[in-house]
Amino acid sequence: MNFKKIIYTLAISGMIFNCSSNSNDDLTPDPDPDPNAKITYEANVKSIISGNCVQCHGNPTANGAPFSLTTFTLVKNRIDAIIPRINSSSSPMPPTGQMSSSNRNIIQQWKDDGLLEN
Ligand code: HEC
Repeated sequence: MNFKKIIYTLAISGMIFNCSSNSNDDLTPDPDPDPNAKITYEANVKSIISGNCVQCHGNPTANGAPFSLTTFTLVKNRIDAIIPRINSSSSPMPPTGQMSSSNRNIIQQWKDDGLLEN
């Protein structure tokens, strides 16, 4: 094997190596944006509570509401009282009537996902 053949062989094997390396990269899928994103307080729950609850469950509370729901910890600690009341038809929260089922489902899913803050 002369010098030219050696260089040629090295160049070819280099190309093969690069190609297989590149195709391995292609086989690794990019991280999907968020097919199974979990519900979090900051992203999903906070806006529902502030839009529907804190006019009474604010800080300070108003209209006879017994506690504040103004922080992640306060809402998380009350979740087992909140879920039955938002789904109650006889004494719903908010008292004016049940929220949309999508809002109620988000709060249920937040609990099922582990009550994440972020
Ligand atoms: C118009 C005022 C008002 C709004 C809005 C409101 N609440 Fe209330 N909430 C009250 C009052 C007054 C009570 C106490 C009387 C009762 O239990 O019905 C109460 C009680 C509760 C209780 C029961 C506490 C217990 O120990 O049983 C929960 C849970 C609750 N609210 C959650 C919520 C949530 C969650 C929202 C928003 C989705 C909300 N509330 C919106 C006034 C309000």
